[in-house]
Amino acid sequence: MCGIIGYIGPKSVVPILVEGLKKLEYRGYDSAGIAVVNGDQIQVRRVKGKISALEKSLDKAPLNGSYGVGHTRWATHGRPCEENAHPHQDCTGSLVVVHNGIIENYLPLKRKLKEEGHTFRTETDTEVIAHLVEKYFKGSLEKAVLHTVREIEGAYAIAVLSTQDKGKIVAVKSGPPAVVGLGEGEYFVSSDINPLLSHTQKIVFLEDEEMAVIEPQGVKFSDLEGNVLKKKVDQISWSPLMIEKRGFKHFMLKEIIEQPQVVRDTLQGRISLDSGKICLEETGISSKHLEKIAKVVIIACGTSYHAGLVGKCFIETLAQIPVDVEFASEYRYRDFILDEKALVIVISQSGETADSLAALRAVKEKNPLSLSICNVVNSSIARDTDGVLYTHAGPEIGVAATKTFSAQMAALALLALHLAQVKGRLDEKTRLSFIEDLLRIPHLMENILNQAESIEDLALKFISFSHFLYLGRWVNFPVALEGALKLKEISYIHAEGYPGGEMKHGPIALIDEKMPTMVIVPKDRVYDKMLSNISEIKTRAGYLLAVAFEDDKEIQDRVDKVIPIPPINPLFTPFLTTLPLQLFAYYIAAKRGADVDQPRNLAKSVTVE
Ligand code: AGP
Repeated sequence: MCGIIGYIGPKSVVPILVEGLKKLEYRGYDSAGIAVVNGDQIQVRRVKGKISALEKSLDKAPLNGSYGVGHTRWATHGRPCEENAHPHQDCTGSLVVVHNGIIENYLPLKRKLKEEGHTFRTETDTEVIAHLVEKYFKGSLEKAVLHTVREIEGAYAIAVLSTQDKGKIVAVKSGPPAVVGLGEGEYFVSSDINPLLSHTQKIVFLEDEEMAVIEPQGVKFSDLEGNVLKKKVDQISWSPLMIEKRGFKHFMLKEIIEQPQVVRDTLQGRISLDSGKICLEETGISSKHLEKIAKVVIIACGTSYHAGLVGKCFIETLAQIPVDVEFASEYRYRDFILDEKALVIVISQSGETADSLAALRAVKEKNPLSLSICNVVNSSIARDTDGVLYTHAGPEIGVAATKTFSAQMAALALLALHLAQVKGRLDEKTRLSFIEDLLRIPHLMENILNQAESIEDLALKFISFSHFLYLGRWVNFPVALEGALKLKEISYIHAEGYPGGEMKHGPIALIDEKMPTMVIVPKDRVYDKMLSNISEIKTRAGYLLAVAFEDDKEIQDRVDKVIPIPPINPLFTPFLTTLPLQLFAYYIAAKRGADVDQPRNLAKSVTVE
């Protein structure tokens, strides 16, 4: 997820772009840049790092211009570095583009443009847009952009300017957000309204497949066929801070709500819908290498470890390959045995967790094939493995991992299906059926998030409890661990996650009216066993909450409260069963007045051992 901004008007453009980028920084902050038009010249400044680094560079060597565009990056293709920072230019340097999104077909386009003589300077997908506009430019910038967007596939919100058709910024939206601000004699385009509110409250929200041509005298809107559109102008009265959280009280809640889109973004471009094949060439690990894998070892910490436990079930069920899941902080000290048939997967959203990095370095001495699943491009762990499968969750500001957990599970589902495909472990019909189920998940997640209010009402009944037990089995045992971790790390209530089958080996002694239990009990292969757990707890006066399928009539009479979820392929239930537990923990913590986004004693990335 990145942030784009553009300005045309009588004011000095550089401060407006920089201030605007600061308000977009939460969308991505590994590199940034601006391009401004000064006479017949485009002046470009790009830096690796945050907006503050761009500001310092501009203080040292100022730029001047009458209009321009800016970008703050969350890298998805190409390392975070100055040359990959936006804005990107065409061969002549008379045209620049800033982009938020992913161009899925950029590699074939890049190859063709290179054959036609275009010179590329970056590793990014975005740069193909600049060269396509250059290729199709015949005097009208908007016509060249219209021709360009007909050729690109994927998700994009772009802003383009050129000194060959001066005095205009052309913006197109197809997927990621783009809004236009209508000031007094000045006009803006941005990824969201936060940078605009200090200038104007008149906002036009572009819809998908719409274009805005922004000029000093006003803005023209059209569809991608060039038909003029009359757009509604909204009057927005939100405060800038509210916008950054999009009106949510905490980043954590915003990130919980973002999860359906995050799963879509992580799956996007990696499943070929016509062939039903999984395409993971981008990892840098070939199918030939994966064919010989006979064992998988997943290494991670915290929530990422829980994702690894879910991934274990995915890989064992779909690819029939044995999987061990290890705490990085433990594995690194073990006399572990690994051979050339092992695939080591390190899961880390930050890509900087010290224990995971240390475990990876220890493992590399045995030279197994290594793959990381990271959310930060070019992070240390991503750089240190043979291949990397990035989650496209965008920056996660809340210390408690939520959307990155769902994104990690999506990446692991893709990997499990890919391994099954490479090793021929699933017939086509079965594989296609799993892929269809996977693609339905974002919509089903939205159904659950739409009932957030009822989960809030339920959660508020438990703010004074001091202990909680979470029970799950098979693919939902990790969800029990994750639900307990969420509650304890943001509300400071003691909570334990346990495999349901372990209750009779000790924890059942804890059960009384002061120890409520959350059971995760979708209709799957362990449903009946979970019903036994429920009966054991019920007879001991324990309060029971259950996350269960909405069409499960039996469970209603066995527990005190049901949190319903839509039925889904049992293997993929963690995508759905996790959401109510995240919301449950969030609402309890928020009501208890805890610092939800920055809980005490915690850090977003544990870069110390
Ligand atoms: C989870 O909510 C915590 N933020 C923490 O357990 C986290 O998952 C763990 O530190 C691992 O972080 P990583 O994914 O960046 O490696």
